[in-house]
Amino acid sequence: MAQVRFGIVGTGGMGSGHAKTMQSIEECKLAAVCDIVPEVAEAVGEQYNVPYFTDYHDLIDCKDVDAVMVATPHYFHPEIAIYAMEQGKPVISEKPISVTVAAADAMVATAKHTGTPFGVMYQSRTEPIWQAAWNLVKSGQLGEIYRTMLVYADFRSQAYYNSAGWRATWAGEGGGVLINQAPHSLDRFTWLAGLPNKVTAYCATVNHKIEVEDVAAAMLEYPNGATGFIYCSTTEVPGTDILEISGELGKLRVVDREIKFWRIPQGVKAYSDGSTEMWRRPDVEEVEVEIPERESGHGAILRNMARHILYGEELIAPGIEGLNTVELINAMILSGRTGEPVSIPVARERYDVFLEELKKMSVRKDIGPDKRITDDVHH
Ligand SMILES: NC(=O)c1ccc[n+]([C@@H]2O[C@H](COP(=O)([O-])OP(=O)(O)OC[C@H]3O[C@@H](n4cnc5c(N)ncnc54)[C@H](O)[C@@H]3O)[C@@H](O)[C@H]2O)c1
Repeated sequence: MAQVRFGIVGTGGMGSGHAKTMQSIEECKLAAVCDIVPEVAEAVGEQYNVPYFTDYHDLIDCKDVDAVMVATPHYFHPEIAIYAMEQGKPVISEKPISVTVAAADAMVATAKHTGTPFGVMYQSRTEPIWQAAWNLVKSGQLGEIYRTMLVYADFRSQAYYNSAGWRATWAGEGGGVLINQAPHSLDRFTWLAGLPNKVTAYCATVNHKIEVEDVAAAMLEYPNGATGFIYCSTTEVPGTDILEISGELGKLRVVDREIKFWRIPQGVKAYSDGSTEMWRRPDVEEVEVEIPERESGHGAILRNMARHILYGEELIAPGIEGLNTVELINAMILSGRTGEPVSIPVARERYDVFLEELKKMSVRKDIGPDKRITDDVHH
């Protein structure tokens, strides 16, 4: 079978997880690895018997590397991805594609002007229930959207935040729950419901000794007048994962991985406008949602990326769509810290200046060696 030879940049928790996953994806072959810490690069290189580097340029320039997986902390994603795409090497970036909208713009522009394939590791899009939700939205079964809601409440311990110097700092990570734990949920939210054009947010650090937010909430306004609500945190057990989209023709609800869909054949507004009955409501029928059987997780995205490169298969998570999540994250952080509503698209220069100020206040953590261990669910 034809294979794409991948080089992985950043072989910490997630990068080493991807090295392992690639061993079981027929279309992928691990060709080289890179980490700025020599012993980390060496350990993974020796484990898989592939060349290892400490400078990403060397990995990308290596003739045995066809495509590049970027699994470093987020701030490095853009420069590595842009260099690779400029060399004509397809890129799959870890989430989020960047910390700022300006950097995401530069990645998107490079992908467009070089025509190089660009994907993002939003693997939860491959999960059967989210594919089912996507099929409902794509086939127009919700009609015009009137309301959205996302609740992603999760838990991280202080030990997690203390596990690496870059985590939960403005200088090393550029945000908290919004930029690290919530991006998969925020990606699905914008994938399914589109982007709002105005965000009024609240961000706070409630339960952890960190610089960045562990709680964030926002009111959203959409171009068509729809409204929405987001809540994200790392302060709760058991976790809660709720996504709701209410439209003219249907209502979608996914609660902790259980999907429900109600069809509203007469239409909500159409019924309201046309009915002469004071106390009647439009008919609603709950329909069983067809859940496709399919491969999911990181392996599914890696396979899809390889098949996109080899055969032109449509990308499940195109890198250029990674910009949407960054818009929402930047808008929420900026609004949460300034107390003002923020428009989307976010003002690029303003966000860069704002983040530089936060980075200046950022204090390097004194926590000993980085642990480089990703959650078991990813291995
Ligand atoms: N898709 C997912 O499910 C998922 C899960 C976890 C993490 N991630 C993402 O993966 C990325 C890495 O997270 P992690 O948990 O693996 O972190 P980690 O700290 O365990 O690993 C990051 C590695 O990158 C290396 N590195 C840093 N700068 C580098 C550079 N310039 N060149 C080469 N190597 C460099 C570090 O030495 C480290 O080994 C983050 O962007 C994170 O959001 C995604």
